[in-house]
Amino acid sequence: MSTTEAQEGGDRLGANETHAEAADVAVQPRVQRLRVYRYKRDGSGERYDDFEVPTGPHTTVLDALSWIQHRRDPSLAFRHSCHHASCGTCGLQVDGHEQLACVCSMADQGEVVEISPLANLPVLTDLVVDMRSFYARFPHEHPLIRFSGLPEDATPPDDLAQYVRLEDCIECGLCLSACPAAATAHDYVGPAALAAAQRLLEEPRGVQREDVLAWAGQPEGAWRCHVGFECTRACPTEALPAERIMALRRELAFGAHNVDKEHTQ
Ligand code: SF4
Ligand code: FES
Repeated sequence: MSTTEAQEGGDRLGANETHAEAADVAVQPRVQRLRVYRYKRDGSGERYDDFEVPTGPHTTVLDALSWIQHRRDPSLAFRHSCHHASCGTCGLQVDGHEQLACVCSMADQGEVVEISPLANLPVLTDLVVDMRSFYARFPHEHPLIRFSGLPEDATPPDDLAQYVRLEDCIECGLCLSACPAAATAHDYVGPAALAAAQRLLEEPRGVQREDVLAWAGQPEGAWRCHVGFECTRACPTEALPAERIMALRRELAFGAHNVDKEHTQ
């Protein structure tokens, strides 16, 4: 496809295209080449397909993938939901770096941008990974999802029916993809699961601390971490997975369980 063809394509609003997306392209058209990982379970194997995509100053990677799906290849598969970095479903790699596609700017990328699925998780098709093996790493004997009920000693403001529990982890899997230990040790439970375990120590709500520590201290647990802090660098929230793994280690070794946020990099 020529540059002219791409820009002309960018001027016409597709059936499922947002007006913001089209308006963005109209302001400052630029054409970037996306090299997109492809995999279908039809025996055809893996490959990268190139697409020239018109982009503007506010085009995200998710916008660019949507443009490809609407204009060039409706079979391109990727996940998204919220479009504002809160659901955790759009994780992928942009030039080898873990990103949420919905908030990753195309303007910050070069002329050729390689888009790959998250690492350390099985690929189902194209950019869609199987998150079951991500959730399977969490400590099943402890409650993962906790309802936002009132703590016994809480005094809520009059205008709130109940406290809403907001956790930092959006379960996007970026930390697991970035983790060098998970790349070589497939039984390693990984940063997000260990961070969740450390949160249980901070706020047990009926969970036995000894059970959590026994789980975290297993061979495939906290001691398997390489202390590279790649998980915290990849994390799009303030979940601090690496710092929480270090806190678990301190608790396991010395009985001290504070999170050292000074090590955030
Ligand atoms: S710890 Fe951070 S990177 Fe890992 S799943 Fe949670 S939000 Fe995503
Ligand atoms: S679409 Fe929800 S985090 Fe990106």
